[in-house]
Amino acid sequence: MRIKNVLILFFLGCLNCFASPYPSLDKGMQSKIAPYLLPANHPMKEKLDMLFSRSRALENEKAFIDAGFEVISGPRVYSFVIVARHPEVPGYVFKLYLDSETRMRNGIPHWEWLVQRCAGAESIRKLIKRKNIRHFSVPDKWLYVLPAYPFSSAVHPELIVLMETDMELESKEVSRQMWKTGITRKHLDELYAIFKHGYGGPGVVKLPANVPYTKNGKFAFTDTEDPPADLKLKYIKKYLSKEMQRYWERLIGE
Ligand SMILES: Nc1ncnc2c1ncn2[C@@H]1O[C@H](COP(=O)(O)OP(=O)(O)O)[C@@H](O)[C@H]1O
Ligand SMILES: [Mg+2]
Repeated sequence: MRIKNVLILFFLGCLNCFASPYPSLDKGMQSKIAPYLLPANHPMKEKLDMLFSRSRALENEKAFIDAGFEVISGPRVYSFVIVARHPEVPGYVFKLYLDSETRMRNGIPHWEWLVQRCAGAESIRKLIKRKNIRHFSVPDKWLYVLPAYPFSSAVHPELIVLMETDMELESKEVSRQMWKTGITRKHLDELYAIFKHGYGGPGVVKLPANVPYTKNGKFAFTDTEDPPADLKLKYIKKYLSKEMQRYWERLIGE
């Protein structure tokens, strides 16, 4: 009898070992988000657990605002993502979709776009490190798996949100001005080193919006949703001074 009990306990223990910590996610999804999961020891992890367990903040717009989120932008016209801050999570911004959001870009589920944002940022981060790039930065991006409770009444509730470093962006006007008058050949060398891989996707060439200037004196690749693409390198000339336009033409071989 005692041996039987020990065996049962052993069996239950094994089950527990293999049980997923995220039962709401299927295997395919778990493996795609695994590389970007917010680590358990991240300083904001407990805050997020508290914040998202208090109420179903993503249920709809009202629940989101009631939970204390402040929308910076969105839902965005193309990506439908909402960019928001929360006063209890200083230094970070969230990119997420509400449970009530039914639109999907290119028919691809919301969570996959959030994974892609992390992957895009990682590619740029690695290149910045490898090439010792000084004038460009990229936010750290993590995925946070929402708690199963409180339940959402939506048919397909969101499963994850993305949290990334708040890059403390200057306004679009300042960014526009910096691209026009504040850059050197070195900036363009570094930009070309990133762009020649197609990182940032087609929209990245809209420099003041997608590679804005930050308060720490660097430009930041904040929009990393699109996979690498064949970029229209000529397009960025309109944001540059005459002298820098000529240098860019030489770089891209025009
Ligand atoms: N890491 C960040 N820090 C501060 N502001 C950000 C950050 N990421 C995005 N934003 C703000 O949100 C806006 C939209 O974000 P973005 O990732 O470009 O969305 P989309 O892919 O829909 O264009 C940006 O133009 C910027 O104003
Ligand atoms: Mg953008």
